[in-house]
Amino acid sequence: MIEIQKLHKSFGSQIVLNDLNLSIPKGKITVIIGRSGEGKSVFIKHLMGLIRPDSGKVIIDGTSLFDLNQYQLNDIRKRFGMLFQYAALFDSMTVYENIAFPIKEHTNKSLKEVTNDVHELIDLVGLSKITLPKFPSELSGGMRKRVGLARAIALKPEILLYDEPTTGLDPVMTDVVNHLILNTQKTLGITSVVISHDIQATYDIADKIAMLHEGKILLEGDTQTFKNTKNIVVKNFLNGNASPEQLKEI
Ligand SMILES: Nc1ncnc2c1ncn2[C@@H]1O[C@H](COP(=O)(O)OP(=O)(O)OP(=O)(O)O)[C@@H](O)[C@H]1O
Ligand SMILES: [Mg+2]
Repeated sequence: MIEIQKLHKSFGSQIVLNDLNLSIPKGKITVIIGRSGEGKSVFIKHLMGLIRPDSGKVIIDGTSLFDLNQYQLNDIRKRFGMLFQYAALFDSMTVYENIAFPIKEHTNKSLKEVTNDVHELIDLVGLSKITLPKFPSELSGGMRKRVGLARAIALKPEILLYDEPTTGLDPVMTDVVNHLILNTQKTLGITSVVISHDIQATYDIADKIAMLHEGKILLEGDTQTFKNTKNIVVKNFLNGNASPEQLKEI
């Protein structure tokens, strides 16, 4: 569904993505792992054209993203939903307005239809109607993630991008959000790309795992590939071991 070819991105003299190649299968959950600062957020933002690469391609269903004009890019973005790393809700809008926003923006639905959609969406993410008039500052972290997810799936996207959907949540909420990701993928048949720090959750939800390291995909495959790997960098990451170089810096 998504082909990433020789994607290259630097900021000043810092190379973040170094000719990265990856293919993302349709209707499956692909999890991107890697250490903090390796470029996971930068990578996922390229997938919907929020960041332009120095070179390389992102091909979605045969369409090369960065060859499109602004108008065509906006059009293709409607097929995406994104849950940003920090939920990124509009603070001055209520939960209702946050979820209704993309629907009002991109469709011609009547107010009644919009409200129906919002009710369906909060149901799907397991929130109750009493949260609708609240503002983001009045919600817990887990509730904010759910509102973010409801907004991300409001336009029934074909592709959902999640940047660390469970960071900062307690173990139970983490499990709930992981089930939510699985359910959304199953019920809506969505192609999902998830960035995660959580190895157990990765094993629980991933059809495909890819580890980003030094600007490239160091290893890709299913859960077994990662559990059986002999690659020492991957093993240390999975086990949470610091490398000798990192320990020297203490
Ligand atoms: N707009 C930007 N301008 C300059 N440098 C940037 C920009 N965005 C990201 N970077 C740099 O790119 C590198 C990768 O950042 P990124 O946010 O993708 O890391 P990450 O893998 O998502 O980390 P984390 O797991 O902590 O979220 C970092 O060194 C960061 O400082
Ligand atoms: Mg990040």
